Amino acid sequence: MRAFRNLVWLLVLAGLLSLTAFAFERVKFAVISDPHLSLPAVNTENRVKMEDYSVELFREAIEVVNSIHDLDFVLLLGDLTKDAEPWNIDLLREMLEEVKVPVFAVLSNHEVSPIPVKGSEPSVASLVGSSKYTTVFALQGYGFNGPRTYWYAEPISGLLLVGLDTTKIGSWGGKVSQAQLQWLEGVLRANRDKLTIVLGHHLLVPFREEESKPEWRNFYLDNAEELMKLLEKHEQVSFYLCGHRHVSTVPVERNGIWYITHASTVTWPMSITLYTLTPEKLEYEVIRLRTKPEVWDLARKTLLEDPWFSPRANASEEETLAYLRKQRIRSLFHAGSFQEEKVKNPPKQGASSAFPTVKVTFL
Ligand SMILES: [Fe+2]
Ligand SMILES: [Fe+2]
Repeated sequence: MRAFRNLVWLLVLAGLLSLTAFAFERVKFAVISDPHLSLPAVNTENRVKMEDYSVELFREAIEVVNSIHDLDFVLLLGDLTKDAEPWNIDLLREMLEEVKVPVFAVLSNHEVSPIPVKGSEPSVASLVGSSKYTTVFALQGYGFNGPRTYWYAEPISGLLLVGLDTTKIGSWGGKVSQAQLQWLEGVLRANRDKLTIVLGHHLLVPFREEESKPEWRNFYLDNAEELMKLLEKHEQVSFYLCGHRHVSTVPVERNGIWYITHASTVTWPMSITLYTLTPEKLEYEVIRLRTKPEVWDLARKTLLEDPWFSPRANASEEETLAYLRKQRIRSLFHAGSFQEEKVKNPPKQGASSAFPTVKVTFL
């Protein structure tokens, strides 16, 4: 059965921000994460990452953001291409030029080429991939300004964005270098009067207990604790936004900072996230991408086949999907009280009515 098509989650995170003197009144921005842009090639496939559909899903994401008339900017949270193939980087740049508002991107593990393993047949990705600096060069003006792989920007007066480089050579795990941490400290010290959103590809806080275990370590930054301690020292830092995990958008709070991981455009339930930020609160909606019913069916099937999304071995389909939904709601308890209101989906042609829109008010 096709699921979640056209479904919108609406969550309101209220009372999160202790500082109210920021210069801006209202900012609207979208997050597109993990598009894994992959022109169909000898090594692409549709598994939990729907690579052969990645271009049309990214195009749909761009159409959605271009249709939002009061959007201020778009954030792109990494895993931009399959494995930094030159044709995919070229396509990425070409497609980003279609976005009508400014775009800010960060690097990730798929901007770092895999290393050919000694003594075994080299993978196509390791033979054709490129340096992350190629992506930085291609994305000049999309957050990057010069050869540095991390950046900061003030797209709206009083709102600071900091884009981190969490890449680790030869690994799909992540770290932030000491030089970068020193740079970050300087940036945050010099911008205490600006509400700050930090962007990085890898997760810092486990979104569920299970993922504190060592086998999940590559989803989390090696020096997450060190980075979070630095962020917590600076009161203007309110959010850390990341991708990498390919679950739906999930907020977790720790010591006053919200860590939010985002849905991928190529993994069920293929989505982007739309935020409205004021100095007092953050609201977000998760927008499912419109695509063909067979793409939804295949995405659901490939997700269920992938062990990273299963609560335990041999879990049933319903159990796995329910488990993922339950984990998402449980993470909201970190803030204390919340109100949940289930609203029956308005009937839409071809859409499943099995999944209600959920509105959560978070106090
Ligand atoms: Fe990814
Ligand atoms: Fe990733």
